Amino acid sequence: NKVGFIFDLDGVIVDTAKYHYLAWRKLANELGFEFTKEQNELFKGVSRKRCLEILLDIGNVKATQEQFNTWMVEKNVDYLAYIEKMDASEILPDVPRVLEYLRKKNMPIALGSASKNAKPILKKVDLLPYFDSIVDGNNVTKAKPDPEVFLIAAENLGVTPISCVVFEDAVAGIQAANAAGMVSIGIGDAEILYEADYNFKDFTEIDDSFLELLLNKNHK
Ligand code: G6P
Ligand code: MG
Repeated sequence: NKVGFIFDLDGVIVDTAKYHYLAWRKLANELGFEFTKEQNELFKGVSRKRCLEILLDIGNVKATQEQFNTWMVEKNVDYLAYIEKMDASEILPDVPRVLEYLRKKNMPIALGSASKNAKPILKKVDLLPYFDSIVDGNNVTKAKPDPEVFLIAAENLGVTPISCVVFEDAVAGIQAANAAGMVSIGIGDAEILYEADYNFKDFTEIDDSFLELLLNKNHK
């Protein structure tokens, strides 16, 4: 009767959305158009390839396959330059407290992210040891809102999907968790993440008694 806890990475554990934004904006500017913070919302939880497709649509830019691949690489090189400078101070508030609590209770913990850079980021901020399984953009074929990423994580943890809890900041991520039959917890704006079973602004709002409830509750 273990409960599996699955965390998204970008926007849940670390605030890397700003670095993704800066790297995409630089590319957009080079291609001669603007890319706003509001437009960046559409990129949350979305694969790198899909993000570039949306970006080129925004700028009305047609690309050859070769250009497309070059820009994918360029964006990631710029993004990695930001990641290189990251440290534990960029972990979002109270994430370590929640991870520590779950570990004390011997609950299996997984990462469920669309990013292909998940492992180096966790390593940079020193959180790698908390995770029993890491499922990321290198392990999945179907992107969120498809539940694949979370179903693989549940399988790796040895728990059934209905005994899993997912923390997500992206609409597509909440939809993926719901489609997997898992308890979905929205981290961020409740009006955007209204499809979640529970909503919190951030982890500072999640106290021990709520975590205790997740451990004991009969899931969906
Ligand atoms: C996360 C982020 C997205 C990002 C995707 C791929 O889901 O929320 O904004 O595009 O990961 O990240 P990657 O590190 O592989 O480019
Ligand atoms: Mg996210």
